[in-house]
Amino acid sequence: MNLKNKKNEHKIRNDIDMNNLPKHIAIIMDGNGRWAKKRFMHRSAGHKAGVETVKEIVKAAGDIGIEYLTLYAFSTENWYRPKEEVDFLMKLLVDYLRKELNVLHENNVRINVIGNLDKLPEIPRQEVYKAIEKTKGNTKLKLNIALNYGGRSEIITAVKECINDVKNNIIDIHSIDEELFKKYLYTKDQPDPDLLIRPGGEYRVSNFLLYQMAYTEFWFSDIYWPDFKREDFFKAILDYQKRERRFGGI
Ligand code: FPP
Repeated sequence: MNLKNKKNEHKIRNDIDMNNLPKHIAIIMDGNGRWAKKRFMHRSAGHKAGVETVKEIVKAAGDIGIEYLTLYAFSTENWYRPKEEVDFLMKLLVDYLRKELNVLHENNVRINVIGNLDKLPEIPRQEVYKAIEKTKGNTKLKLNIALNYGGRSEIITAVKECINDVKNNIIDIHSIDEELFKKYLYTKDQPDPDLLIRPGGEYRVSNFLLYQMAYTEFWFSDIYWPDFKREDFFKAILDYQKRERRFGGI
């Protein structure tokens, strides 16, 4: 990072109100493929560069004191990509967990996964379980990695579990309300995201955290994910702090 960027990052960071941090930030990491294409490189180079951004932003989130960070790493729709790309993304995940687990653990990061893990190939699944187990006692940043995640599928799974619990007299149908239903989601016991960051120039939610994002503030940017830096992350937080959140009130 050059000196000018560093100074800029410090300035933005100093402007952040530490008493009004978003508790939970969700990120749709988009633009890896276009980042690579612009450089006449293979899409895989974009994903590889994207992992470097993951490391930087996880560190930044921990440094500033964000409690929950949710990264959309692989959606239920991403299986439709060419097998070679899916395999590469799985390999990147495995490499990331193998190389970064100790650092994450030392930084008191707790890893959690949201999504249907049953369909993940054996090796990434085992690495994920290992990471969850090793970091389960950590208390600083809670890092949710969304893997084989789809918002609609999450809601349908939750509805089925609810119906099952009603059938088995575990819950009463009349006790089902918004708060109880949340307990059936992958993010149970976590606050809803306050802020969604989507770099990459697209303006949609792409089946991400559909139930949880009812009142989330959205922050979009044209920057491709591999070019997204700490400074952009802090800028998004600063912009978030200028918003007035009314939650449907006045
Ligand atoms: C979207 O960019 C990105 C993905 C589908 C994968 C995101 C994965 C990573 C950043 C790396 C692995 C993650 C971890 C946590 C180690 P795109 O390929 O759709 O970009 P495009 O729209 O420009 O083609």
